[in-house]
Amino acid sequence: MRGQQALIDTEPLRQQLLATMSQQAVLVPTASLHNKVALITGASRGIGKGCALELARRGCSIIVNYANSKAGADEVVKEIENLGTGAKAVSIQADVSKVAEIERLFQESKKAFGKVNIVMSNSGTESWDKTEDITEEKFDHVFNLNARAQFFVGQAAWKHLEQDGRLILMSSIAAGLLGVKDHSLYNASKMAVIGMIKAFASDFGSRGITVNGVAPGGIKSDMFTQNAWHYVSTAARYLQIFQCANDASRSPVAPQTGQRTRLRS
Ligand SMILES: NC(=O)c1ccc[n+]([C@@H]2O[C@H](COP(=O)([O-])OP(=O)(O)OC[C@H]3O[C@@H](n4cnc5c(N)ncnc54)[C@H](OP(=O)(O)O)[C@@H]3O)[C@@H](O)[C@H]2O)c1
Repeated sequence: MRGQQALIDTEPLRQQLLATMSQQAVLVPTASLHNKVALITGASRGIGKGCALELARRGCSIIVNYANSKAGADEVVKEIENLGTGAKAVSIQADVSKVAEIERLFQESKKAFGKVNIVMSNSGTESWDKTEDITEEKFDHVFNLNARAQFFVGQAAWKHLEQDGRLILMSSIAAGLLGVKDHSLYNASKMAVIGMIKAFASDFGSRGITVNGVAPGGIKSDMFTQNAWHYVSTAARYLQIFQCANDASRSPVAPQTGQRTRLRS
């Protein structure tokens, strides 16, 4: 392979991935969440909206938080109340990158429903910036929403959640990905969330509150539509690496020579 790029056939793996992705969703028997209340940040669209509707199908009442999309949030409220499961909903505007607004969000939520049993800290933003170009303002914008807000929503959850409540924080598969260019801000901000999940889980146990994290891969949403293409070249590289791992004769590190096989980019 000296001086020559390995040509790796990724088609079988691509087919395997597509077959896996087209499998039927595993349906978990519906646990009743009647008389429970969930506060979901960023529930006006995307993943937060999907979670709001799923919890409401199980009877859970929902606080639909949003930053700017009042119409979207009000539509989610309407959809929830039309489900006919007894779930109620209200929309509350709050910018969770500001601690004072997080506190107001929890106060108004308790005023609406009297209690909060589940908190899902979901709001987030993407960032594709060359490391050398990242300004202090850009750093603060991404970290304030993706990391700092997750911390302070978690802290408010500790204060306001009912005994034996549930807290879910949103990370991303990107937190653990190697080889994605121009992604240091998003990657690091989502990695910080993993640290919070692990530490909160120990701290919150004394009140019976479970803390879990979600680190999704690609989920179709506005964020996905705007950003998924950035990941394509990395995904292609990963496919090549998996192919190499499955095929010893084309190992990325040839065992006899220790010479590295170059992957096409
Ligand atoms: N989609 C994916 O493939 C994917 C993969 C991994 C992780 N994630 C993570 O999952 C979460 C949701 O992603 P998504 O794809 O659903 O994103 P999205 O479609 O862009 O929706 C973002 C949501 O966050 C809200 N939001 C934005 N800034 C806010 C602020 N300052 N205060 C309160 N809410 C704010 C938005 O409210 P407005 O509508 O009012 O703007 C919206 O409801 C994010 O943390 C993201 O990083 C997504």
